[in-house]
This record gives sequence, C-alpha cells and structure tokens, in this order.
Amino acid sequence: MIYKSVVVTRRGGPEVMQIVENELRAPAPGEARIKVLATSVGRTDVSYRYGRSPFSPRTPFVPGYEIVGRIEALGEPRPGAGAGGLDLNVGDQVAALTGQGGYAEVIYLGQEHLVRLPDSLAPEEVALVVLNYVTAYQMLHRVARVKAGGRALVIGASGGVGTALLQLGRLAGLKLYGTASAGKHALLAGYGAVPIDYHTQDFVAALRQAEPAGLDYVFDGMGGDYGERGLAVLRRGGKLVGYAPPSGVAALLLQLARLAWTNLLPNGKSAAFYGISALYMRDREPFMQDLPVLLRLLQAGQIKPVVGARYPLLEAARANALLESGQVAGNIALLAPELLPA
Ligand SMILES: NC(=O)c1ccc[n+]([C@@H]2O[C@H](COP(=O)([O-])OP(=O)(O)OC[C@H]3O[C@@H](n4cnc5c(N)ncnc54)[C@H](OP(=O)(O)O)[C@@H]3O)[C@@H](O)[C@H]2O)c1
Repeated sequence: MIYKSVVVTRRGGPEVMQIVENELRAPAPGEARIKVLATSVGRTDVSYRYGRSPFSPRTPFVPGYEIVGRIEALGEPRPGAGAGGLDLNVGDQVAALTGQGGYAEVIYLGQEHLVRLPDSLAPEEVALVVLNYVTAYQMLHRVARVKAGGRALVIGASGGVGTALLQLGRLAGLKLYGTASAGKHALLAGYGAVPIDYHTQDFVAALRQAEPAGLDYVFDGMGGDYGERGLAVLRRGGKLVGYAPPSGVAALLLQLARLAWTNLLPNGKSAAFYGISALYMRDREPFMQDLPVLLRLLQAGQIKPVVGARYPLLEAARANALLESGQVAGNIALLAPELLPA
C-alpha cells in the first residue's frame, strides 16, 4: 500500500515541489498513523522552501505546519511516554502542530502531540486555527498581555495570522489598525479595523496623525525595517511583538541585537520576538491549553477563519503559487479530496 506526499525537492519556487509515493507502514511504538484531512499553506512554508529562514528544513522535506486528520492506526504505547493522558482510538479526529509534514495523504506523529477534536468542527477551519490563531492568541495574551481599550497596529493584517490577530484583537476589546493592500481593506474594515494602504501611505505618518499619543501594541508580521517603524508609533510603555522569521542567520543575529538594544533604551518601549515552534519545543503545555480555548471560540462562532481558497492536498504547488502571487486574502486550505466542495 502506498500514500502520496508533496516534497520540496530543492530550494526554489512552487515548481520544485513534487508528488512522491511512500510505503505505508505500521506506526512505531508511541506513534499514530493519521489520514490527513486538512492543512494550510502559509508564508512560513514559502520561506522554508526558498531557504529564506534560518529555521528552514534541509531539502528534501514535506511542508505543512499543522494538520487535522483521522487516526488510522495506533502504535503500542511507548514505555514511559504515555499519550499525555489522552485515551486515543482509531477513527478519532485529531489536530497537531507539525512544523512540517502536513502536505501528505498520511502523517506519522507521536501520540503526545495530538489534540482530540469533536467531530462537529470542520477540519479546514480547525487546521487554520492550529497555527494562525494559536500564534495570534499567544502573541496577544501571553506576550503582549493586551488589555481592553488598548490601541494596536497589525502590520500585514490581511493574511492568515493578520486576520486572526484582528478577530482575536477585536474580541479582546482592542482598537485596531492594520496595514494591507487596498483591495483587502473591506476585509479589515469588516473586523472593525482601520485599514492603511502601506503601498501609498506612510503608516507612521498616518498613525501619528490618528493616534498622537501613540499605540499600546504593534504586531509585526513583515519584519525588515517594519519593526523599526512599528516602534516609532508606540507610546511610552508600548510593546512591539515581531513574528516574521528573519531572512537568515545574519538577520537573526541583527534582530536579537536590536531587540536587546530596544529593551535597554530609556524610552519605556519594549520589543519581543514570538516563535510558535520555539515555544512549543520548549514547553507544549501553553499550546495544549490555548488550542482548546480557541476551539471553543470556533464552536461558539466567535471566530471564523477566512478561507481565501481551497485546493486538494496534492495540488499544494498551485496553492503555493497563489499565495506567492499576493492575490489571496486570509488563508489557503489544503483538503483531502472528499472534503472539497463538489
Ligand atoms: N512566529 C511565528 O510563530 C509565526 C507563525 C505563523 C506565521 N508566521 C509568519 O507570519 C508572517 C505572515 O504569515 P501568514 O501565513 O499569515 O502570511 P500570508 O497569509 O501570506 O499574509 C501575509 C500578508 O503579507 C502581505 N504581503 C506582503 N508582501 C508580500 C509579498 N511579497 N507577496 C505576497 N504577500 C505579501 C499580503 O498582504 P497585502 O497584499 O495586504 O500586503 C499578505 O496577505 C510570515 O512571515 C510567517 O512566516 C510566524
């Protein structure tokens, strides 16, 4: 028996992705074999493929930062590991943060990484929550510790993480501003955010006029010099949270130096870098606490991921090309064929 996955064979554009066949095997002790129902295409997948992030996996690799799937087979318990208290069964619908590996019909994961889901939740929506909403939620509530009534700017507000920040920021009672291309402004306005077209407007000048006292929070998903400009619109005591991965090792070192310097300056502003994987690898518990909170919000209809496009799982290359074109607002979902609308 075989299953297919989409492999990044070398550094480059979407054309370097190839479908390969793999032998299906029984799960090892402590593992689960999962049929993938949904994952997403995000900008991190693109950075990893080009090798633009110091955290890019070596090629060949299968991208796909999160999955929702159904357990097909369970390995024997691994001595001493357990399943995090979860009583998992074949047929359960589960979610996991994977970092890579989601662009595949089947994935093997350690049982301790799985979060069991109610069958009532749509796999595509949960997949979009696992990375983008947990990222947004943790930045808002664990890093910035936002307070209702605060004023915040989201740099890169129209994408997957950006729209999650707007929805969750609104729920947290923030006054929101967001930078985005003009064609995506209606989306931002729908979340009560004030859109700024960063192509035609200097957002620093626009915000100094709109908020002369400065902002409480800036969330920067673009990186580069956006961080410096984001700091410029903060009030004394304000906080910047950067989440765009640096473009290489030199940029990483520069970013760390800038962070340290910003936090030493006597202007009362502070900055932090957030990385979901670094946090997850250090301690899984915050993720395991926050994902269920978000799933309850999803079930209650209080959050609704924006699905800009849907593709069959194995058409990940086309979906990546669309993301890179900048034409899509919100998220791109990759789905098992039976979940795609007819
Ligand atoms: N630190 C973490 O834990 C973490 C977790 C998830 C994602 N991320 C990072 O967060 C950032 C956003 O990720 P995402 O998946 O939300 O991205 P996304 O959906 O592609 O959204 C990013 C937005 O950036 C704008 N953009 C700017 N330059 C662009 C370009 N050259 N081509 C296309 N679009 C461009 C687009 O909006 P406009 O057209 O409106 O400009 C797009 O909607 C990425 O840097 C990603 O790596 C970090």
